[in-house]
Amino acid sequence: MVKNNFSDLLTLSDLSSEQLQRLISLSAEKKKEFQLKGANRLLEGRTGIMLFEKPSLRTRVTFEVAMVQLGGHMIQLQPEHVSLGKRETVKDAAYNLSRWVDCIVARTFSHELLVELAQHASVPVINALTDLHHPCQALALALTLKEKRGELKGLNLVFVGDGNNVANSLAELCGHLGMNFILACPSGFEMPERVIEQIQPLFKKHGGRFETNHDPKLAVRNADLIYTDVWVSMGQESESEQKKAHFLPFQVNNDLLKQAPQHCLVTHCLPAHRGEEITDEVMDSPQSICFDEAENRLHAQKAVLMALLVPGMLS
Ligand code: CP
Repeated sequence: MVKNNFSDLLTLSDLSSEQLQRLISLSAEKKKEFQLKGANRLLEGRTGIMLFEKPSLRTRVTFEVAMVQLGGHMIQLQPEHVSLGKRETVKDAAYNLSRWVDCIVARTFSHELLVELAQHASVPVINALTDLHHPCQALALALTLKEKRGELKGLNLVFVGDGNNVANSLAELCGHLGMNFILACPSGFEMPERVIEQIQPLFKKHGGRFETNHDPKLAVRNADLIYTDVWVSMGQESESEQKKAHFLPFQVNNDLLKQAPQHCLVTHCLPAHRGEEITDEVMDSPQSICFDEAENRLHAQKAVLMALLVPGMLS
């Protein structure tokens, strides 16, 4: 199979802004259709494989349920059974898998390893999280915000926390959709320069604003949504204690929420460390949409599977 336009989902830059808009609409459409009529079996007879180097609850379960509800089948591989790049080269693993399955859903530490996998796989590769990006999470947020707010252009998303993989993908999403993205983080925990350079043209093109701010209370003054995530990402546990000291003033709690407009929503990528980056009172408040977003991982990823495996879905 020769790969063409939108053949993998490694970052949201694999899509044009128009394709991204259509993908969000497709996920909303298919969610409604599923609630009214049940499974559509569009991927009957198709098989995906999940290769995860890190733990996962939401991503693994939602990809498997998505595939089953679309009539297909998903195989879960334990990382030690594959050892990408160790037991055999990434290239050879990609060549083998491409002969058997219709898509590869991979969660890797290194983003470069995922890119290498996609370069050699002739079937679509989907990023289920790398150290640099988490596009599926951003797509689920887009669907959730659409349900809650309707029009997304011009909304202010304030990410309070580390400039991590989730922040990178959310910033990319905002750039595509003409939203404003404000990262409120301690000094030294900004997003990588190379990611900022890549997404700046999107903000310019669609009229959104990208900003980094080191004062969380100031940053949330006009927030429509506060987004947060764990302070220590998977695989970086050795930095835990040192990082927590920097991030304490960036906890999403009632005091911070009081600085934001009343309509401001709050969400979290999950899993949350309650009492660290977010308090119980905020996470369980009526303003919290984190479990709606978790639910929408299923619907957003169904749209991704359909868009990559069924020709013409985004046209
Ligand atoms: N948000 C998210 O990706 O959750 P998991 O790590 O449980 O998959």
